[in-house]
Amino acid sequence: MEGSINIEKEDSVVNSGLEKENRVLKETLLNLRKELNKFNERPLVVCEVKNVFGDRAMIKLPNGNNFVVNVSKNLINKISASDLVLSEQRSLTIVDRLEKIKTHSVENFIIIEKPSIKWGDLGGLEDQIMEIKEVIELPLKKPELFKEVGIDPPKGILLYGPSGTGKTLLAKAVASSTNATFIEIVGSELNQKFIGEGAKLVKDIFQLAKEKGPSIIFIDEIDALAAERLDIGTSGEREVQRTFMQFLSEIDGFKSLDNVKIIASTNRIDILDPALLRPGRFDRLIEVPLPKAEAREDIFKIHMRDMSMDEDVKLHRLVKDTEGFSGADIKAVCTEAGYLAIRENRVKVYLSDFLKSIEKINGNDFEENSIMFG
Ligand SMILES: Nc1ncnc2c1ncn2[C@@H]1O[C@H](COP(=O)(O)OP(=O)(O)OP(=O)(O)O)[C@@H](O)[C@H]1O
Ligand SMILES: [Mg+2]
Repeated sequence: MEGSINIEKEDSVVNSGLEKENRVLKETLLNLRKELNKFNERPLVVCEVKNVFGDRAMIKLPNGNNFVVNVSKNLINKISASDLVLSEQRSLTIVDRLEKIKTHSVENFIIIEKPSIKWGDLGGLEDQIMEIKEVIELPLKKPELFKEVGIDPPKGILLYGPSGTGKTLLAKAVASSTNATFIEIVGSELNQKFIGEGAKLVKDIFQLAKEKGPSIIFIDEIDALAAERLDIGTSGEREVQRTFMQFLSEIDGFKSLDNVKIIASTNRIDILDPALLRPGRFDRLIEVPLPKAEAREDIFKIHMRDMSMDEDVKLHRLVKDTEGFSGADIKAVCTEAGYLAIRENRVKVYLSDFLKSIEKINGNDFEENSIMFG
């Protein structure tokens, strides 16, 4: 008796094992069939909707031909002109709608942010700040004032001066004070990364700026885009020229009281195409020079704000020793001095730390120059 019970038990174990295996195989088969069906499906055509008439619509195919086609039931009243849709190949019936991908692609390529730089983070740039407030901040905040007085504020300004003097900071600070979207593009990247796409990208960027307004488009290294070209022989140069032309036409295309402002920045004002500086385009040039003594003092104070320092640190000494330093150099001096203290297990930074870092940064500059000039 005992033996037969055991056999039955074993049988049912074997059976359930087989059933399980069977189930798995069936599922696999189903999945493979589904995959196979995918390969057999005909591709859908991406078209643009031109017009909708109830359950029919006019679409434009990628080859430029227009057709009037049926709209599948679930899409009636859900599509409109300029939508991208998918059409079945033979009848061209619209079967699906694509989410807008247009603006999405630009957003992947540029930096968009809401900066939090305050005017107080900028040292020694009072004149520049005043001018930017007048030509960028005021028109964005109080456009009615300009309408009343009847003048057009500039559409864009050009910041020029040596590297590390606070041009990017100024642009970010005004974006922050006007709570504007800050869209940053770099001239050289526009040329290198987007070969053949530069002009389209410029168009999309301005479109995006309008949608996200108020916004500030910041173009760093504008010289890479707008250098005066004497001969445009190679296709690369023609491409840059096309991007630049598109850029000019976008600037001409919006009104000075629209909520988009452009700030461009360059270290090489000497090589810019004069077309850029024509009235109605960048008609305000603001120089951002290397900081003089008083300005250096301000910049030191800003970067020392949170540092814990020994009493022997004399600001006037640091200011005296940093003739020719940019704001970025001064920041580097402070950081470096902090490191020297940490290296010696101190939490207080001494005057000697600062002096050593000034020497080091002076040395760096000297090395760079000697590499450049032989
Ligand atoms: N006037 C300034 N006040 C305070 N900090 C400054 C100033 N100028 C420069 N700095 C410091 O140097 C850094 C670099 O400055 P910024 O990026 O604005 O220079 P830039 O003029 O745009 O240089 P580039 O021409 O190389 O782009 C800033 O993040 C800031 O820490
Ligand atoms: Mg910069």
